[in-house]
Amino acid sequence: KGSCLEAVKIAIDAGYRHIDGAFVYFNEHEVGQAIREKIAEGKIKREDIFYCGKLWNTCHPPELVRPTLEKTLKILQLDYVDLYIIELPMAFKPGDALYPKDENGKFIYHETDLCATWEALEACKDAGLAKSIGVSNFNRRQLEMIMNKPGLKYKPVSNQVECHPYFTQPKLLEFCRQHDIVIVGYSPLGTSRDESWVNVSSPPLLKDPVLNAIGKKYNKTAAQIALRFNVQRGVVVIPKSFNPQRIRENFQIFDFSLTEKEMKEIEALNKNVRYVELLM
Ligand SMILES: NC(=O)c1ccc[n+]([C@@H]2O[C@H](COP(=O)([O-])OP(=O)(O)OC[C@H]3O[C@@H](n4cnc5c(N)ncnc54)[C@H](OP(=O)(O)O)[C@@H]3O)[C@@H](O)[C@H]2O)c1
Repeated sequence: KGSCLEAVKIAIDAGYRHIDGAFVYFNEHEVGQAIREKIAEGKIKREDIFYCGKLWNTCHPPELVRPTLEKTLKILQLDYVDLYIIELPMAFKPGDALYPKDENGKFIYHETDLCATWEALEACKDAGLAKSIGVSNFNRRQLEMIMNKPGLKYKPVSNQVECHPYFTQPKLLEFCRQHDIVIVGYSPLGTSRDESWVNVSSPPLLKDPVLNAIGKKYNKTAAQIALRFNVQRGVVVIPKSFNPQRIRENFQIFDFSLTEKEMKEIEALNKNVRYVELLM
């Protein structure tokens, strides 16, 4: 409690403008407060901020989409989000339980038509509640399903997926490039390695010798090299930190460039293994 408010304020002061959030992070009230305080201070204007919100799995039925976004806006105390995305391409049973399970501890899924959910997002954009709409954790087949939908009004502007030097997403990146869909790379530093949701059998990214050796050359950390790598290949990065020094460190990536050879060396680190397996 309170740590997110402080982190977002420090981030805005450091120069960050894109803030990745979600209802299920349970801190949208703090994010909204930080943004509003910085606007009140005169540090930023609302239009300087790019806030991304997410539609959770229990809210896929089309009639729930707009009320869910309105709830997020109420928590944030903002009039619109810049981007609203479907967090996962699968639905849970709607209701108060965000992770509904049966008596055997199995998740209770829900049949919804992702295309119908998408149409509800399109309506949110038309209503001005979201400036842009996109998706997250969608594979190529799921993206194509939306893009080939009869009567499509807006295609997804972005697809937020795990992306970092150990999981470089070459095929999905190429597909999205061809279709003008921005890849937003989550866990760009290799996650927090929290065993409750992270596959820790994959080695820690920031200990990688290649990233550290390249970092030494530029007087940068492995984290900065990992972020710079993605930015330089056109992938948006959304690193998370609650630590003021690391928040600032993660922004100091615009004063150097990696060479083509270094980019290739980092690309070759790809292990095709996810940290965030989303087993549910
Ligand atoms: N769409 C989705 O399904 C999805 C899934 C996962 C994540 N995300 C989004 O992506 C964001 C980032 O992903 P993530 O939190 O999984 O992983 P991440 O940003 O790759 O890593 C965060 C971890 O790295 C540490 N860290 C931050 N900066 C560092 C630095 N310079 N040096 C060393 N360690 C550093 C953080 O600790 P400190 O806080 O102590 O610095 C934290 O433990 C999330 O906040 C969320 O917005 C989306």
